[in-house]
Amino acid sequence: MSPTPEPAPSTPADDEVLIDAARAAQENAYSPYSKVRVGAALVAADGRVFTGCNVENASLGLTQCAERAALSRAVAEGARSFTAVIITSSFDEPLMPCGACRQVLREFAEDLRIVSVGMGGDRSERTLGELLPEAFAPDDLRGGSR
Ligand code: THU
Repeated sequence: MSPTPEPAPSTPADDEVLIDAARAAQENAYSPYSKVRVGAALVAADGRVFTGCNVENASLGLTQCAERAALSRAVAEGARSFTAVIITSSFDEPLMPCGACRQVLREFAEDLRIVSVGMGGDRSERTLGELLPEAFAPDDLRGGSR
């Protein structure tokens, strides 16, 4: 029998654990070109947490952001539904997810809590709906007139 899923973390204490997880992934960032280090901790609806870091490439356009790295990992492990993503970076101020990451997260989450924490300790909390309003989404390709 599979274990009962944990509820998705949402209390401030839980956020601290998630921030630590994102920071640990950030430590592993491969970013010799920009030197920007980013970590992400993506929380699945069943409570599992998947981390990712940015992975740059000498062919710069092939760089993968931390959020998308975490998402790929989660999907490979069978997670398809998410409640939150915590983002940390080497910037002083909270880093907001890039447009590509917003769109890719939207594929698996109609809405999502997005918490970003800068090195200076400031936090920004938004929903995916706020950061990507009126998104082009899976429903647009289901049964529409094409
Ligand atoms: N980066 C992320 O990992 N996530 C974002 O949402 C924005 C940017 C990374 C990509 C690149 O390695 C570095 O930050 C500078 O753009």
